[in-house]
Amino acid sequence: MKLINGYDLMNYAKKKGYILPAFNTTNMEMTYAIAKGLDDAKLPGYIQISSNNLRLSNPKVIADLARDAASRYDTPIGLHLDHGKSYADVQACVEAGFTSIMVDASHLPFEENVAEVAKAVQFCHFYGIPVEAELGALQGKEEDIVNEADAKTDPGMVEEFVRATGCDLLAVSVGNVHGLDLEPHVDLDLLKTIADISPVPLVLHGGSGIPFDVIQKARKCGLLKINYGSDLRKAFIRTFGEAYEANHNAHDVISLSMKAVENVSAKAKELVEVINA
Ligand code: G3H
Ligand code: ZN
Repeated sequence: MKLINGYDLMNYAKKKGYILPAFNTTNMEMTYAIAKGLDDAKLPGYIQISSNNLRLSNPKVIADLARDAASRYDTPIGLHLDHGKSYADVQACVEAGFTSIMVDASHLPFEENVAEVAKAVQFCHFYGIPVEAELGALQGKEEDIVNEADAKTDPGMVEEFVRATGCDLLAVSVGNVHGLDLEPHVDLDLLKTIADISPVPLVLHGGSGIPFDVIQKARKCGLLKINYGSDLRKAFIRTFGEAYEANHNAHDVISLSMKAVENVSAKAKELVEVINA
């Protein structure tokens, strides 16, 4: 199948009552692995890549890989820019064929966050692409970016933020954290309060490490998308680490890369199945 438009993916998930995983990729192997894992589970989701991870490649390379990966299967798969850090990145990803966009200006003061997001929304909506934005800040480590601040999303700012920006998805900070170094403590009451106010569905970043029963409860609180990065990256890295530990002369890259694809796709399949159980 071709990559599915973000609006169509969201509507499909809402109709079916699914929660959509967004799995972070960095390279070719992880891209193919994510698509395979979603199709093995026969459940929809996103391949996503952050601006920070596009340093290794570029939007066109990732979009070409994702298109080829999705073309092998019937399962609906979207391609999402995660933590888009500039308008230029947003434009380049739309140009390359991404079907969903996040612009992350949550580190800026409210008014500036609104302005950055509204500008990206106007551009993306012209091309029929939904936009995710973030209000609040997550602690933790997103790849090599560490954020100490833990600014929970203020429910009193949600409605104005969504109205003023026109965003289609809202990433919230409710005790979720990026990475595996910190313990997430998701405040489901706060999530429910925000969900009851928000005109758009919610997104949880920092999926790795959140207990599955919490996610299943969060799914009932208006959560539509949940991001997973570290769990899959760990599955990829372990494949090579274990091989090297077993044999310091390990050098069979193709076999290890294919094993890594299997391990990452198995993790993706496990996650998408359990959060939709
Ligand atoms: O945007 C990416 C995700 O928030 C990754 O979070 O590495 O804790 O799963 P995670
Ligand atoms: Zn994130």
